[in-house]
Amino acid sequence: MQTERLRIAIQKKGRLAKECQELLKRCGVKISFSGERLVVHAENMPIDLLLVRDDDIPGLIMDGVVDLGVIGENELEEVRLERIAMAKPAEYDLLRRLDFGGCRLSVAIDKDNTYNGPEDLNGKRIATSYPNILKDYLDKKGVSFSTCMLNGSVEVAPRAGLADAICDLVSTGATLEANGLKEAEIIFRSKAVLIQRKGEFAQDKVELIQRLLTRIQGVIQAKE
Ligand code: PRP
Ligand code: ZN
Ligand code: MG
Repeated sequence: MQTERLRIAIQKKGRLAKECQELLKRCGVKISFSGERLVVHAENMPIDLLLVRDDDIPGLIMDGVVDLGVIGENELEEVRLERIAMAKPAEYDLLRRLDFGGCRLSVAIDKDNTYNGPEDLNGKRIATSYPNILKDYLDKKGVSFSTCMLNGSVEVAPRAGLADAICDLVSTGATLEANGLKEAEIIFRSKAVLIQRKGEFAQDKVELIQRLLTRIQGVIQAKE
């Protein structure tokens, strides 16, 4: 289904939301975000923004439902691996790495435990929202483990007796610290990226995307 307006999916709320809206504004896209609206039309360009949960953005791109998306590489890679396992379309084009949303996906353990390497995780139960990235990483290290899938509050799992370790996003490290955990192994480094669906684009959309990319380049360079 081709629409004339360029559809861009961005996170409705969360760590990427503000910086993402800011970037679009600096690129000259006139948008007024108001209340609970999920679709916002740009006033001065043929662009519609879809405000969705970040978890849904990779799938919207891989199913070709929206044209562009801004998403953290961690979420993107997790969904990609999950869709490959389910034999669903999992392709996208990376247009640009952005300069925000930096974090790492790490395994963390009780701060009083020692850690000598991935082999220490053998036979352990690890709580995470990223089971596919974790499995991909530990499989390559020859470590077998079990997961406890949690979509939030992952850090409480060891103390609650749900798991031996966790694998979650770390940015400042404050959440780990507050829960008596320490970072043991970095498994994935992530930033926000701009991605594009596969398939044909009308010429005017190609030109609009090119114009946006040039402006993003300018905005990022101006900050450096
Ligand atoms: C993320 C992540 C950690 C925390 C890490 O959660 O799941 O809990 O941030 O950040 P820090 O190292 O700076 O403390 P987020 O706040 O995004 O919420 P969520 O877990 O509910 O998705
Ligand atoms: Zn999420
Ligand atoms: Mg969290």
